[in-house]
Amino acid sequence: MIKYTDPMFKANELAGKTIIVTGGGTGLGRSMVKYFMTIGAKVIICSRKDDVLQQSAKELREETGGEILAVQCDVRKPLEVDEVLRQAIEKFGEVNGLINNAAGNFISPTEKLSPKAFDVVVDIVLKGSYNFSLALGKYWIENKIKGTMMNIVTTYAWTGSGYVVPSACAKAGVLALTRSLAAEWSKYGIRANAIAPGPFPTEGAFSRLFPESVLNDIDPLQRIPAKRFGEHQELANLAGYLMSDYSAYMNGEVVTIDAAEWIYNAGEFTLMDKVPAESWDEIAKHVRGKK
Ligand code: HXC
Ligand code: NAP
Repeated sequence: MIKYTDPMFKANELAGKTIIVTGGGTGLGRSMVKYFMTIGAKVIICSRKDDVLQQSAKELREETGGEILAVQCDVRKPLEVDEVLRQAIEKFGEVNGLINNAAGNFISPTEKLSPKAFDVVVDIVLKGSYNFSLALGKYWIENKIKGTMMNIVTTYAWTGSGYVVPSACAKAGVLALTRSLAAEWSKYGIRANAIAPGPFPTEGAFSRLFPESVLNDIDPLQRIPAKRFGEHQELANLAGYLMSDYSAYMNGEVVTIDAAEWIYNAGEFTLMDKVPAESWDEIAKHVRGKK
């Protein structure tokens, strides 16, 4: 029997794919990269911390036997983005996939933010995503490459969220970017989709969003009806599908992977699941037959 933590694809389903994953040296990016390498993709990872990148690349090479290139890059800087693409083409000949995964985020009451604090998150998330999308899009169109792009957003890209307002604004922008480019570049055979994950434990996210001091007051698991966080392989499986040719007819889509977390908390009457099952017959006596 299969388990949800099992890799979905088993063989070389991503053979022939060469994929840039921004922020691919840590967290969810690293998990996607590892899986992609095991199913035949060549991968380029980039982020600011070169030591972390090179160490991850070394480990991933050893763990998977796959091919990987690590290039230091701040996604906010277009010239550094161009350099990642140049080095990737030099090493692998062609790049046909992009995952905009790099992000910056932290919790704060919005009134405590400085303009620079707002900028830093929006610049990494939104500017970083459009810098890479523009560089790859121009290259794909010019070279008639049917590239596939996938952007990691969040469920609050459409609901909004207090305490992470710069991230919410930026992710909403990335979602608009995804849908807009899907519409405009479909004629070139370029696809753009997005994944909106609920909480998946990573050092980068959880240390900034759910620090110990906050966990005294709130329990993020209570928001999730399944009462568990996501497993990295679950997200990697979905990402593998969206980057593969199996999803050729999917374009401009955002796929939520959160065990119904956002809908659960948005639904007016979802709290009724706190009513004990044995109470419903009694409740029905008061409710039924009301004219
Ligand atoms: C208020 C803050 C702050 C905080 C930084 N700033 N942290 N303000 N509260 N907690 C302000 C600083 O005071 C400064 O403004 C400005 O932001 C820039 O700060 P720096 O520390 O100089 O920035 P930098 O070193 O570039 O670091 C960027 C960062 C950092 C975004 C602040 O957190 C980072 O590197 N993050 C990368 C990884 C990451 O965030 N991963 C989580 C992704 S999770 P002033 O005006 O004082 O100079 C995610 C979604 C999760 O995105 C959803 C879960 C369900
Ligand atoms: P993470 O490990 O902190 O990943 C963020 C990555 O972005 C890091 O590798 C970081 O590397 C890189 N980065 C940050 N600023 C950069 C910059 N200016 N230029 C280049 N790279 C930069 O956190 P994660 O949880 O895996 O997050 C990955 C993605 O998932 C993000 O888009 C996040 O918004 C999204 N997400 C996560 C969750 C979750 O619960 N974990 C939920 C929803 C969405 P450097 O520091 O080396 O630059």
